[in-house]
Amino acid sequence: MLLGIKKQSINSSSPTVETMQTILTTFQLLQRDETEPLHDIRLVTILRFWGEVLVGEEYSVYVKRIKRMGLNERNSHFFWPHYKHDTKQASFHTTVDLNTHSDQFTVILQRLLITSEMIDFCAAVTKSVSEVRMGFYDQFKK
Ligand SMILES: [Fe+2]
Repeated sequence: MLLGIKKQSINSSSPTVETMQTILTTFQLLQRDETEPLHDIRLVTILRFWGEVLVGEEYSVYVKRIKRMGLNERNSHFFWPHYKHDTKQASFHTTVDLNTHSDQFTVILQRLLITSEMIDFCAAVTKSVSEVRMGFYDQFKK
């Protein structure tokens, strides 16, 4: 058993249609189009929110669960370290230390977002990323 699931079940599982769609949509969001005026903001926004902030939030739930299974900060080699180094620790509008990956991307975005149009664009991209991620989790409500 691994985290309450038989290892064979994990090894023999296949991604669902919803999971494959999430992966495909995420790759489409990440496709680089340098002719797009704000492409750099789009990519940094996606990397920060999809790759760091949401990971930290999701892992905050996972670490509570794996704690009940005997894994902790000392013996967890994957979830705890990622939870620690990805989680957003500072608000977007504050000066942040370079503590986590989320915070490091925040510093980059703070430098890039210099007009209200850019801020609105960043917010729209964040909303798109959030919708894709929620689409992934919606499959478990069925
Ligand atoms: Fe990270």
